[in-house]
Amino acid sequence: MGSRLLGKVALVTGGARGIGKEIALALIAESALVFITDIDGEGAKATAALIHAESGYAHDVVDEAQWRAVMASVIERAGRIDILVNNAGVAVGHGPNDVENVTLETWTQIVNVNGYGTLLGCRHALAAMKEADGGTIVNIASIVSINATPTLAPYGFSKAGVAQLTKSVAQLGEPHGVRCNSVHPGIIRTAMIEEIGAYHLRTRDGSSGLASAQSQGRPVRFQTPRDVAMGVLFLASDEARGVTGAQLFVDGGTTSLG
Ligand SMILES: NC(=O)c1ccc[n+]([C@@H]2O[C@H](COP(=O)([O-])OP(=O)(O)OC[C@H]3O[C@@H](n4cnc5c(N)ncnc54)[C@H](O)[C@@H]3O)[C@@H](O)[C@H]2O)c1
Repeated sequence: MGSRLLGKVALVTGGARGIGKEIALALIAESALVFITDIDGEGAKATAALIHAESGYAHDVVDEAQWRAVMASVIERAGRIDILVNNAGVAVGHGPNDVENVTLETWTQIVNVNGYGTLLGCRHALAAMKEADGGTIVNIASIVSINATPTLAPYGFSKAGVAQLTKSVAQLGEPHGVRCNSVHPGIIRTAMIEEIGAYHLRTRDGSSGLASAQSQGRPVRFQTPRDVAMGVLFLASDEARGVTGAQLFVDGGTTSLG
């Protein structure tokens, strides 16, 4: 058990499974008190019990009343919030969500959860952290914030927005000691990527398996949820006190090496 986050109180959204669950584990392993939320409330509670998190909440990140309730509960129980990880997100799409085909319904769902859900988290954390004279927010974006993936048009739009929103929040928070950064995972084997991967990634032999998948003709470099969690841990810790408004790509070089 490490002590890099000893005395810190953290909230991780979308923590019932996948990357969020691994982030929660990484923060707990460094002695943070961690609260987990997810639209899948049973999943959030089950994960919290399994990994010894403080508590799990049912929480839809696009619902502002629920944000108020979750924040109030965390502050009532733990006295403060030092770290927010806006991880909840959706990709949605077994079919083409490209410019020619995407529907308003799909567009709205993806942009709302990834964009407005993240904005609400920033709004409510910023308010609490300003009062406490400090804190740190980590937003989970994606490599598609800069890499074009035409079949994921609304997802790319939303994640580019998350990167931009992060900079706005960093600017608002800076006078109050509140940092805000984004982490941009590459392709991570989670339920999300299994669900969308078969359609959106091509394999060399044309099959739908992910093992030899390619993106834009290049072999896919897979990262793990833990790789992402380690990036989040750094940004959430005081070791990153000089880092705000930054984008950390955890993609094995996908965006920088071509
Ligand atoms: N897996 C990848 O390759 C990859 C790559 C880049 C970025 N990301 C991002 O990482 C984050 C986690 O992705 P993952 O791969 O673990 O996906 P996942 O689907 O396994 O987990 C996402 C979690 O978010 C929850 N969620 C969905 N909508 C919600 C809402 N409205 N309110 C609260 N919770 C909600 C889900 O119930 C789920 O538990 C997402 O923001 C995703 O966009 C993933």
